[in-house]
Amino acid sequence: MEMVATSRPANWFLAFYRSALGKKTVMALTGIVLFGFVFMHMAGNLKIFMGAEAFNHYAEFLRAAGEPILPHGVGLWMFRLVLLTCVALHITAATQLTLQNRRARPIAYKCLDPVQLGYAERTMRWSGYLMGIYIIYHLLHFTVGTAHRDFIAVNPYHNVISAFQFWPVAAVYIVANLLLGMHLYHGLWSLFQTLGCNHPRYNPWRRVFAVTFSIVVTAGFLSVPIAVLSGLVS
Ligand code: HEM
Repeated sequence: MEMVATSRPANWFLAFYRSALGKKTVMALTGIVLFGFVFMHMAGNLKIFMGAEAFNHYAEFLRAAGEPILPHGVGLWMFRLVLLTCVALHITAATQLTLQNRRARPIAYKCLDPVQLGYAERTMRWSGYLMGIYIIYHLLHFTVGTAHRDFIAVNPYHNVISAFQFWPVAAVYIVANLLLGMHLYHGLWSLFQTLGCNHPRYNPWRRVFAVTFSIVVTAGFLSVPIAVLSGLVS
């Protein structure tokens, strides 16, 4: 890890970012923001069980965020900008870390099981690629509407129900959200390690936390396509 001692904060930050720990810290901090979004989005989606009015009202409430201080839609765009910046930083740091690790491969890991590390690293990488493809499809499907067969701009309830009544679309969402669960589990587990919270006494709690939150988020997301497929909501 090449850390350069310097008094200028910008230089210190760049030197830190060049190290593996610096990139992992950026991934951990942006991961916390993205996890926060995913959790809130999952909780918001559960409004679908309260009917069309509650669900559509919630979507409208998000579009009106920041009003009357900000003009209509500006709050939502500011939020999107933060989210996009976090996604870009998360992907850039992950890609650079992978390349850096590949170059340093001959150096053995001191205290980690290389088989396990390789498995977690590989899982995170390919689930990350698939999440990227899924999010692009998801935005074209429910936000832009071009990937939806019967999109009505102001009626997200209709868009979700009519989409998941077609089982192949529901299946894509079910598989993608299971992948998200895996990605979240590994992410939440390694996040604490990166941020220095990996004392053996707390590790069982770290695992309980990572398992519980990834299961809650995955189950919440999966409940929507499953409820539509089974006719529970229509
Ligand atoms: C079954 C699972 C999901 C359902 C039913 C669902 C539903 C929706 C709907 C209806 C919208 C559009 C809301 C509107 O009209 O403004 C939306 C937007 C969005 N969703 Fe999902 N979603 C799911 C899972 C996910 C996951 C797992 C992610 C990310 C990992 C995600 C990321 C987003 C993003 C980034 C937006 C755009 C927000 C914006 O800027 O307007 N969604 N989702």
